[in-house]
Amino acid sequence: MWLQDTRPSCWAVAWDWVLAPSAGHVLLPKVPLGGEGASPAQRHGICFVAGGCLPNLGPWADRVPCKSALPAPLLSGWMGERRGLKGLQKQWYYLFTHHSSSASSATMLLLHRAVVSAFRHACRFKSTSSKLCIQACSTNDSFQPQCPSLTFSGNNSSTRGWRVMGTLLGLGAVLAYHDHRCKAAQELPRIYTREEVRSHSSPETRIWVTLGSEVFDVTEFVDLHPGGPSKLMLAAGGPLEPFWALYAVHNQSHVREILAQYKIGELSPEDKAPSTLKTSDPYADDPIRHPALKVNSQRPFNAEPPPELLTENYITPNPIFFTRNHLPVPNLDPDTYRLHVEGPPGGQSLSLSLDDLYQFPKHEITVTLQCAGNRRSEMTQVKEVRGLEWSIGAISTARWAGARLCDVLAQAGHQLCETEAHVCFEGLDSDPTGTAYGASIPLARAMDPEAEVLLAYEMNGQPLPRDHGFPVRVVVPGVVGARHVKWLGKVSVASEESYSHWQRRDYKGFSPSVDWDTVDFDSAPSIQELPVQSAITEPKDGATVESGEVTIKGYAWSGGGRAVIRVDVSLDGGLTWQVAKLDGEEQCPRKAWAWRLWELQAPVPAGQKELNIVCKAIDDSYNVQPDTMAPIWNLRGVLSNAWHRIHVHVRANP
Ligand code: MTE
Repeated sequence: MWLQDTRPSCWAVAWDWVLAPSAGHVLLPKVPLGGEGASPAQRHGICFVAGGCLPNLGPWADRVPCKSALPAPLLSGWMGERRGLKGLQKQWYYLFTHHSSSASSATMLLLHRAVVSAFRHACRFKSTSSKLCIQACSTNDSFQPQCPSLTFSGNNSSTRGWRVMGTLLGLGAVLAYHDHRCKAAQELPRIYTREEVRSHSSPETRIWVTLGSEVFDVTEFVDLHPGGPSKLMLAAGGPLEPFWALYAVHNQSHVREILAQYKIGELSPEDKAPSTLKTSDPYADDPIRHPALKVNSQRPFNAEPPPELLTENYITPNPIFFTRNHLPVPNLDPDTYRLHVEGPPGGQSLSLSLDDLYQFPKHEITVTLQCAGNRRSEMTQVKEVRGLEWSIGAISTARWAGARLCDVLAQAGHQLCETEAHVCFEGLDSDPTGTAYGASIPLARAMDPEAEVLLAYEMNGQPLPRDHGFPVRVVVPGVVGARHVKWLGKVSVASEESYSHWQRRDYKGFSPSVDWDTVDFDSAPSIQELPVQSAITEPKDGATVESGEVTIKGYAWSGGGRAVIRVDVSLDGGLTWQVAKLDGEEQCPRKAWAWRLWELQAPVPAGQKELNIVCKAIDDSYNVQPDTMAPIWNLRGVLSNAWHRIHVHVRANP
């Protein structure tokens, strides 16, 4: 099977396909997916390719279109393929994920099962090999629209067999589905003990899991698991709850619907819900947070201060400093805490208590920390990206104090070396596999006293709050937040960057042309210094301002110690500009680690009913923010630093 045109508009295969046995075709409506004139089902991205239920698509498996031409909803299909799905399963998954409606996912799975079995019956009528081809339609002018058809072409004598098969396929799908539901409704659930469930924990014995009192055989789903098979295998033979508690994304109705398809029975009443589950919430011990924070995800906790509080103070108060956690917050005892610093080959490693760290000269600096995903929500408006929907608040500024990393490394016997080397950091927060958060920076930056990299134990004159790395975190001035490893447990020097997922498989920038199917994470360097950034914090987007004069406030910052030298503000979408006044601490050249706040009071042009306010910052290398997001769009939504634009209404004079 192959689709003859690979342009996204041609992926118009329809849910409501019609069997037309006399022509040997399955006719498909002449509309592109989601396009004008599409049926409601199509507009919601629901599609169903009859060919997807062929029992063995092996010979055609490689003839599917160029991956880069696939529309975004197909990406997970390709992920399914990459994870080694074979033949029918691969093809099906590929087609199955061609629709975006999560609610319909479960339906499609049901249909998949029903149709496959119906098709197997149907195939008994037709044993010779035939070619199946879907001709897709297009709205593209250069491509003549045509009635798309599914053509079974083989020798003439086989046509009737295909017709019969096609009819049976449709009927069989419906009947098998109905039959399946009736049987499921009538049969009493089978009862299993936890011991039995535990014995099903490998592909050989099949993979069972439980959720509440229900038992599921997820063997067929393991390769389809969006988080990767290995993550689902962690739960093999046991309860899903501890993992769902960690990855709260599972708590959605469509996930439960998909799981429901794999239900095989119930746990025996004596075995239901072990009491340990109640206390196994890995986030149960997370600290209490400030209610002003705008929460982007509760588990793990990710939150930002609202814009109106963000630039209220030059130094962000600890309780509203943005928080970016990937895992539960560890609860570390300061008395037993030890930082392990690996020595060079042949040298001595250090095991430093907090008191040991206090013995190093205390160094204090003001540093702005910004997440690579700050302002991702604006990039999402161009095209969907994967990641938390940060607004403009994934950035904050604090006064940090601690030991200089270069002093600690020197005590462990490290020196700058000629060859490339990296300092790797490991956090004490870890996932259920024991994998800790980690990141690295180049040794040259770590050893440079002027780079002022800190092992910080104080934030704004207080011990670090738990959310921000208590008792010790790394602070790397001028560098993306991801490298400021919190709850620091280990420091080592290596010839290569950290092997952490967050160093190698995340926090990298790519061309807008790169999608999840074509991305090669090894081809791009990890983000270190961030580009110049600014945003408007007042007025709020959509607010109504008084006529006469408007006060506009915001922040501006650049990575690598580059100082912000100017912020330009426009009230007319960028046609004309005014220079804002820079506030906050004057920054040292080449060591401008902290943001500048800025303000502009500007007359509102008479009669103006609305304003399109825009800001852009310029740093001392004359780097300036790009004007729009589209050219810097990237699949992870990082480095989102185009001009910040807001739209406000002007109150009419009474
Ligand atoms: N360190 C550990 N151990 N675990 C984490 O999840 N998140 C990183 C970094 N250090 C993280 C970490 C990211 S992506 C960012 S942006 C900053 O911490 C956020 O620091 P904050 O939460 O103190 O603002």
